[in-house]
Amino acid sequence: MILYYSWSGNTKTIAAQIHRNVGGDLIELELVRPYSSTYNTCVEEAKRDQANQARPELKTRIADFKQYDTVFMGYPNWWGSFPMPIATLLESYEFSGKTILPFCSHGGGGLGRSVADIARLAPRATIKEALAVHYGGGDSLPRDIDAWLRKNGVDA
Ligand SMILES: Cc1cc2nc3c(=O)[nH]c(=O)nc-3n(C[C@H](O)[C@H](O)[C@H](O)COP(=O)(O)O)c2cc1C
Repeated sequence: MILYYSWSGNTKTIAAQIHRNVGGDLIELELVRPYSSTYNTCVEEAKRDQANQARPELKTRIADFKQYDTVFMGYPNWWGSFPMPIATLLESYEFSGKTILPFCSHGGGGLGRSVADIARLAPRATIKEALAVHYGGGDSLPRDIDAWLRKNGVDA
């Protein structure tokens, strides 16, 4: 399963490209109360949620989560980690025994603390090497994804 949250579409582009390679179910996380579509307001809302360690309610429900062994988990870097809806996700489902492959779109900060933060909330999952993509990844995105999948031993 490829599961992602994307505010401005970059993570969505990366998720779609991964999906082309590996197939499976592609699921976009939607929120009951979406972040503002205005950049500055969204930045403020995100900062507040991060500071409060909020758990924004997810509109998306994943049916039969148990059936998935491997979860590709995508998100933008927000304030050095993942957006708080990813925390809601990690606490709403049982990730013990699952393999997580994180992928993160960023504006220069790379993965930030996001992988350590995933490990903290999913301590009994196996976390593979994460992929950091600068914004939408540009022309090299398909090649970068191929190389990442190969490194992680995923059959594409
Ligand atoms: C609220 C907010 C906070 C952000 N914080 C960071 C940051 O700390 N480090 C960074 O490299 N990029 C940061 N960015 C830039 C995004 O990670 C980048 O634009 C990313 O490509 C967005 O992915 P998306 O289109 O899937 O939402 C931030 C963007 C927003 C909207």
